[in-house]
Amino acid sequence: MTQDLAPTVRPSADARAHTDGWWRSAVIYQVYVRSFADSDGDGIGDLRGIRERLPYLAGLGVDALWLTPFYASPQADGGYDVADYRAVDPLFGQLSDADDLVREAHRLGLRVIVDIVPNHTSDQHAWFRAALADRPGGTARERYHFRPGKGERGQLPPNDWESVFGGPAWTRTTGPDGESGEWYLHLFAPEQPDLNWDNAEVRAEFDSVLRFWLDLGVDGFRIDVAHGMVKAAGLPDIGLSEQAKLIGAQVLPFFDQDGVHEIHRAWRQLLDSYDGQRIGVAEAWAPTSERLALYVRPDELHQAFNFQFLTCDWGAAPMRQVIDESLAATRSVGAPTTWVLSNHDVVRHATRYGAGDEELGLRRARAAALLMLALPGSAYVYQGEELGLPEVVDLPDEVRQDPAFFRGDGQDGTRDGCRVPLPWSGEAAPYGFGPGGSWLPQPGRWRELSVEAQSGDPRSTLELYRSALALRGELPGLGDGEMVWLDDAPEGVLAFSRPGFVCTLNTLGAEVALPVPGRPVLSSAALEFAGGTVRIPSDTCVWWAV
Ligand code: GLC
Repeated sequence: MTQDLAPTVRPSADARAHTDGWWRSAVIYQVYVRSFADSDGDGIGDLRGIRERLPYLAGLGVDALWLTPFYASPQADGGYDVADYRAVDPLFGQLSDADDLVREAHRLGLRVIVDIVPNHTSDQHAWFRAALADRPGGTARERYHFRPGKGERGQLPPNDWESVFGGPAWTRTTGPDGESGEWYLHLFAPEQPDLNWDNAEVRAEFDSVLRFWLDLGVDGFRIDVAHGMVKAAGLPDIGLSEQAKLIGAQVLPFFDQDGVHEIHRAWRQLLDSYDGQRIGVAEAWAPTSERLALYVRPDELHQAFNFQFLTCDWGAAPMRQVIDESLAATRSVGAPTTWVLSNHDVVRHATRYGAGDEELGLRRARAAALLMLALPGSAYVYQGEELGLPEVVDLPDEVRQDPAFFRGDGQDGTRDGCRVPLPWSGEAAPYGFGPGGSWLPQPGRWRELSVEAQSGDPRSTLELYRSALALRGELPGLGDGEMVWLDDAPEGVLAFSRPGFVCTLNTLGAEVALPVPGRPVLSSAALEFAGGTVRIPSDTCVWWAV
């Protein structure tokens, strides 16, 4: 017998209303604002577009959304270069649109997390302009990291740090007289000068910015570069020439310094002073799971993206190891683990897992989604992964916007290919993204991947996600809690149980036959049953009720 496991249950509002620490089990959907939905036809997604599509997210079954930066910005790094933390960029709407979006989301039972970018501002921020206008040693410069250069005429950067986007992490200033002056630090693009978190004004300003958005009603913050705000004292040379990676585990004097935790503790107190369980989630690239767990100690942030899981190779042994290490590390501090497979900075996992074979990649991506959503803790879904979107690997150079692309080989690959606007409906580009075009071109075959094309097709990736999220809300064993490995699984197969539930993942390139462990409730590919045996195809994940 072949069995397709179509959607079975829909969550009731009650089943999804987590009372004790909603974030511990939450599935949070990342909205990359530029690329989600465009309401005004300029080809760039905006806040009104998101508001109009909120019923889609509520129907998908997620608990919350995270909005990438929509603040006033020259867009040198997709909005991660903020010129005014309290204003909405006209590209995305106005403050009243943010307000409407938060209210409407809440009405639909969705929480809203916004991005906060505290490591650096835009070079167009009033503070940085004042700093440039100030003299060396002036108070306006103390909010950033200004230093004299080395060499006889100060012509060399103050130290050997490299920007994550490639090239030196320092840029020399030119005074009003045209003379070269001090250098300033930017771990990212030159348009993103790093703030000096030893400066009391910087701390006070961010407290005020957090309060501004909390007062507007947001449910928390995704903290950009949460591991970078504090630099090692004296800004020491690294002494190695290897390029620093954002997505990496190198030990560096500007990432994961112990001093950042004091800032997060202070922010936690601020969050706790508001009602309604407002949360902080760290975008922190730490060398180990143990170092990452420090960010989610009881008096610090609520979540930290598990990038060890994101970067793990496909396969039972490496995946089991990462799962064990992450659970052990977060358990040691009493926090949930926060699983993530993709975001706006990495190659989409449907492509990553395929290593050149799209069909294989999608198969594994579907299986990985069921694995992730069955593991203890919370999970993030990056927009479009529920459609099984692949990375767009053939964007013409002239449409690219990622600063990393223009600054050499700083990042692994480039990041525009995962930021292509979503296909919603219709036969022709921009596939319902908006009434105009789309800021990055969508491949023609995305017509078949649109929300409309996949809705109602029980074999589609979209319906797989809808079913998984619905079941996650219904099955009490899922979400926060414990899991136990079932060690009778054959090599290459991961099997674990949770109360009333078993998950089996065949990571092999061939099918495996196993004794049926329970009632199948969802599978990433069709199963075959004979007697008491189930044949699980290659690269397939199955959920069982027991
Ligand atoms: C974070 C963002 C990334 C951005 C960088 C600098 O890693 O996710 O998109 O380029 O910070 O702000």
